[in-house]
Amino acid sequence: MEYDQSVIVPESYKVLISEEEIQKRLQELGEQITRDFKGKTPILIGILNGSFIFLADLIRYINTDLEVDFIRISSYGNGRESSGHIKILKPLSADINGRSVLVVEDIVDSGLSVQFLRKMLEAFNPVELKFVTLLNKPEKKKVDVSIDYVGFDIEDKFVVGYGLDDGQMKRNLRSIYYIEQE
Ligand code: PRP
Repeated sequence: MEYDQSVIVPESYKVLISEEEIQKRLQELGEQITRDFKGKTPILIGILNGSFIFLADLIRYINTDLEVDFIRISSYGNGRESSGHIKILKPLSADINGRSVLVVEDIVDSGLSVQFLRKMLEAFNPVELKFVTLLNKPEKKKVDVSIDYVGFDIEDKFVVGYGLDDGQMKRNLRSIYYIEQE
């Protein structure tokens, strides 16, 4: 369903990935994840804040029983560049020992968050630890990380919407936009 959000879309925002393209890709990812985790009852761990919309939509394309939990980390604060200092603002609640785990990220940029999360979660001895990200910026990697499922590889542009913020706002936009520099 088209829904007009133009009143909260500044002129400098250009559509990178439309709402329809996002949903189409989520269905494909959901089918792949359903096949890979069939009968395993995975725990999906959303990384707050950015992943909350992606996680909410993605799980409705996954046709296997699953659980949901969240971790909140922060590396960016209100800035646009990773500070490199990752803080745990909300730890894991679920017991993932012996479980299949799928970590859900909205964007992988430098890879530092994924590297940090992998090390932290492996210490709890999950039987399987996989990562899905909606967006991936291949050229921004500072560390070598392997991501099991990628929605879209994108160029190094500042992106907002669909959970991603611009100064903590615009997470409610249904499409993903990039900001055109003057
Ligand atoms: C974003 C995103 C990832 C991280 C990716 O979070 O959700 O967790 O940055 O960047 P990296 O690969 O360079 O580590 P952010 O700190 O912006 O917080 P937010 O999700 O609450 O907006």
